[in-house]
Amino acid sequence: SLLNVVITKKIDINGFGACDGTLACSTCHLIFEENIFQKMEPMVDEEVDMLDLAYGLTETSRLGCQVC
Ligand code: FES
Repeated sequence: SLLNVVITKKIDINGFGACDGTLACSTCHLIFEENIFQKMEPMVDEEVDMLDLAYGLTETSRLGCQVC
């Protein structure tokens, strides 16, 4: 997942991935360009529910711990 990339590359994003990918936060919220968003696997219900709590939600938002 993109969360794993942030962790393994030691990218310092304050607070990103607070729940370590267990779908218990929305701190890994990312906004993608439309053409990239369209190529992603569909969201599972749990991601949709948690994404609803994300600040600044858009039509092309995903949780970074759920996308590769
Ligand atoms: Fe918490 Fe993605 S890291 S939902």
